[in-house]
Amino acid sequence: MIAQELQLKERLENGFKDENDLLYFTQTYLQHTNHLTHPHYYGHQVAVPQELSGIPELIHGTINNPSSLYEMGPAGGTLEGFMINWMLDKVGWLQGKDYYNFKFESGSSSGLLTHGGSVANLTALAAARAKAAPDAWQYGNPKNLVVMGAATAHYSIARALSLLGMGSEAFVPVPVDANEVMQAEYLENIYDDLKSKNKQVMCVVANACATSTGLFDPIESIGDFCQKHQLWFHVDGAHGAAALAGEKYTHLLKGIDKASSIIWDAHKMMRVPALCTAVLFRDFKDQAGAFQQKGSYVFHDDEVVGMDSMPYTVECTKSALGTKLFWAFALEGQKAIGHYVDNSFQLTQEFYEFLQNENGFETPYTPQSNILCFRYTADNSTDAFQKQLRYQIINDKKHYLTSCIMNGKRYLRVVLMNPSTTLDHLKALIATIRSTSKSLSQGF
Ligand SMILES: Cc1ncc(COP(=O)(O)O)c(C=O)c1O
Repeated sequence: MIAQELQLKERLENGFKDENDLLYFTQTYLQHTNHLTHPHYYGHQVAVPQELSGIPELIHGTINNPSSLYEMGPAGGTLEGFMINWMLDKVGWLQGKDYYNFKFESGSSSGLLTHGGSVANLTALAAARAKAAPDAWQYGNPKNLVVMGAATAHYSIARALSLLGMGSEAFVPVPVDANEVMQAEYLENIYDDLKSKNKQVMCVVANACATSTGLFDPIESIGDFCQKHQLWFHVDGAHGAAALAGEKYTHLLKGIDKASSIIWDAHKMMRVPALCTAVLFRDFKDQAGAFQQKGSYVFHDDEVVGMDSMPYTVECTKSALGTKLFWAFALEGQKAIGHYVDNSFQLTQEFYEFLQNENGFETPYTPQSNILCFRYTADNSTDAFQKQLRYQIINDKKHYLTSCIMNGKRYLRVVLMNPSTTLDHLKALIATIRSTSKSLSQGF
């Protein structure tokens, strides 16, 4: 058991005995971690960081300058403002503004970094609510407030709605196709129906891309619909907004500039260690409305000299998130990060093509990003078997892959985030799936 092996109780009581004890503890700790840099790791959507990615964490851990207020961490706050401007530029929202200008103004775009996509979605939805129901902070929500989106939206959306006091029933699902992609042609009818029931649509949420499949909702059509009806359009780009950093897959996000708010996890596809997410707003006015609490000791309105994000986040104190985001780029240069994103998407396409000639494998869709779901049914086609296959493979410590349910069926799932993974490693995975399936099916 890890807790006993690490002698947690003894060390809590007496501390590390000496340097050797600290070293021994660290080595034992590392033995019980997942090695994301191994080319056979295609598991969860967390970045495979660069070798020197930990340096900003070490600097922050040593000097402890939270970056939520410029006066608490001028360098960290500055790097946050700079990287937000870089991201706004990628979305197409910067409009000639200088990367070194951190002053946000009504009528122009803005953003901030948060600890993760779930907090980022909550932040964006709080801003959408403030616009739809400006009195909600004081008097609670109007009962008729609803949100439209693909039923496959990440669970953090439903959680945010419940946390905002709207209840998860306030989410109105828009039909999806067999691959769980939103069918935008239903938006008008659903909207008319909601209006006839006296419902007020607070916002429309799109996946860019969906967590399970890596497929993108039709951003441009949803954006057009929202513009036509003057609705808040929120793009959950936690995973897929990173395509904007590359060159070959930006078309998947065509129309993203029509969004009112976007979230973008840097700790997924930007090689940044967890956590680091951007929340971006087309208009600073919307960001400014998200939270309405006062704190005379920290919020100074006109006296702000640099990037102050504290008034606009759930978090009060926050880590130097901009520093680690900047670092990931500075280690290799932005072109390298762009190529990394493009190459991971490309490798997934090659893996998909390879699977087309492999007997016993089912691939329900052509991948758009670096996530692919597939099943191996040669020996057993039940959902339970796919799950058992996955557990056996990861317990054998040969490969690390995940699994998910799509359209009512269980699939094996790979997320190709590791720059050292090649098609040969994936061919080895296929061979392992075949041999594991064979031995399991004998006892199943
Ligand atoms: C589409 C989407 N949105 C939001 C999240 C939540 O992000 P986080 O894990 O950073 O809280 C995820 C996580 O996988 C996701 O895939």
